Amino acid sequence: LAKTAKHDVVVIGGGPGGYVAAIKAAQLGFNTACIEKRGTLGGTCLNVGCIPSKALLNNTHLYHQIQHDSANRGIIVDNVKMDIVKFQAAKDKVVKELTGGIEMLFKKNGVTYYKGNGSFEGEHEIKVSPVPNGVEEEVILTADNIIVATGSEVTPFPGITIDEERIVSSTGILSLKEIPKKLAIIGGGIIGLEMGSVYARLGSEVTIVEFQPAIGASMDDEVAKATQKFLTKQGFKFKTSTKVLGATRNGDTVSVEVEGVKNGKKETLEADVLLVAIGRRPYVQGLNAEKIGLDVDKRGRLVIDNNFNTKFPHIKVIGDVTFGPMLAHKAEEEGVAAAEIIKTGHGHVNYANIPSVMYSHPEVAWVGKTEQELKQEGIKYKSGKFPFIANSRAKTNLDTDGFVKVLIDAESERILGAHIIGPNAGEMIAEAGLALEYGASAEDVARVCHAHPTLSEAFKEANLAAFSKSINF
Ligand code: FAD
Ligand code: NAI
Repeated sequence: LAKTAKHDVVVIGGGPGGYVAAIKAAQLGFNTACIEKRGTLGGTCLNVGCIPSKALLNNTHLYHQIQHDSANRGIIVDNVKMDIVKFQAAKDKVVKELTGGIEMLFKKNGVTYYKGNGSFEGEHEIKVSPVPNGVEEEVILTADNIIVATGSEVTPFPGITIDEERIVSSTGILSLKEIPKKLAIIGGGIIGLEMGSVYARLGSEVTIVEFQPAIGASMDDEVAKATQKFLTKQGFKFKTSTKVLGATRNGDTVSVEVEGVKNGKKETLEADVLLVAIGRRPYVQGLNAEKIGLDVDKRGRLVIDNNFNTKFPHIKVIGDVTFGPMLAHKAEEEGVAAAEIIKTGHGHVNYANIPSVMYSHPEVAWVGKTEQELKQEGIKYKSGKFPFIANSRAKTNLDTDGFVKVLIDAESERILGAHIIGPNAGEMIAEAGLALEYGASAEDVARVCHAHPTLSEAFKEANLAAFSKSINF
């Protein structure tokens, strides 16, 4: 007979959605378990996503700055070199510490952690099956409430086989053993541009092939153009409006066949490594959702209502495996809200206020509406812009690329969207999020005393420019 256990709440998946939901549910007093099959907690984000990519981005930025920018600052550094083994080890150390940290948090909050694969046996029964170094035998869990947070996986490119050596996904690109001389990337979205930045700084010749006429996925059009300009200055080559027909590995190189969308012109690109980064898709393999008939939409997402409920009110779904942007902080917010709904019947995520950040240099961050969305929706708006070249802190830092753009309602002057391309944009966007959440007008922000000299003064000035005139530009 299989082992059994009973819990108030069982969470399937230990990524940012699942682990946060489990901790919150335990904090709300539920006997909670979380099932994760990867061997470590933290999901895509901590293991092969946000965290390792940001470690590589930060350290390559430092390297690049020391190499190309230190002399301007009066700092003479000779013989700057990369130690690729230590560079990778630094990233691995952070991942290990953070994933291990979640295990500690589970212990602290009393969450039972099952290392295994979770699959539906019934509407209230979940089977945990063994994985290497995990549970040794099957366990059948009975749960009053179930939260599914199984995440997403790389979208494959039809006909291109990923070997994670020469033709890599976002996972393989994080652990290359050598710096490719030529790196080709399919997809000018967030992964393509972030990982392209890492390798461009290390000296790779980076070519981005993007099907759409513009890069940057859901960015504001004006910001996407500026992004392309800055990255071009950093040595990126862009082939926009270009379709990939196929790619083949020939020993240590890869040939990528492409075709212009408009002119039909064919070309073959040669690269040492090809990164396929055309998006991610929901992941439900091994979940056995069919067993209880959970609904899945055309894009493979598990279908839920506004309270995260599937057709069974006691089975909720959060994070990348369901609707909405595939972002760690979105999954986390949903995790908290889902646990709160179980406890109190109420929980809320404001989907109009989810920030996006691309950790290139300069960083790109945005929240709320883009200008093209406002036009499409016929909303009358005004905009205010402030360039970092006129910001004293950016000047002192010799880091003045970019601008802040604020979009406000033409009549009420409430903030509708904020778009920042510039140093530390990812930190600065939090202020815009707070303003948006509280329904602030541009004047409200402009009347808040901002410390001098700081980059955030550029946000204040852009708000000032939106309804009046900026002072320093
Ligand atoms: P996941 O993190 O995918 O976690 C799901 C977990 O469930 C996995 O660990 C999986 O093993 C487990 N699982 C699945 N099925 C089962 C099962 N049947 N039984 C047991 N366990 C199961 N987002 C940001 O916000 N900021 C960033 O900077 C950022 N950078 C990224 C960089 C890269 C290269 C990538 C690929 C993604 C990045 N993301 C970033 C996106 C972010 O990683 C995801 O949005 C986030 O991880 C989604 O969380 P989740 O909990 O929904 O799913
Ligand atoms: P993405 O959706 O950001 O970008 C994919 C790009 O590929 C788009 O520009 C698309 O037009 C293009 N594309 C699609 N099919 C194509 C084809 N056949 N040929 C050429 N181009 C094609 O997806 P990406 O970059 O793979 O990232 C996946 C997700 O991971 C993101 O949407 C985001 O949710 C998350 N992520 C978030 C990060 C962050 O927050 N900093 C960092 C990395 C990933």
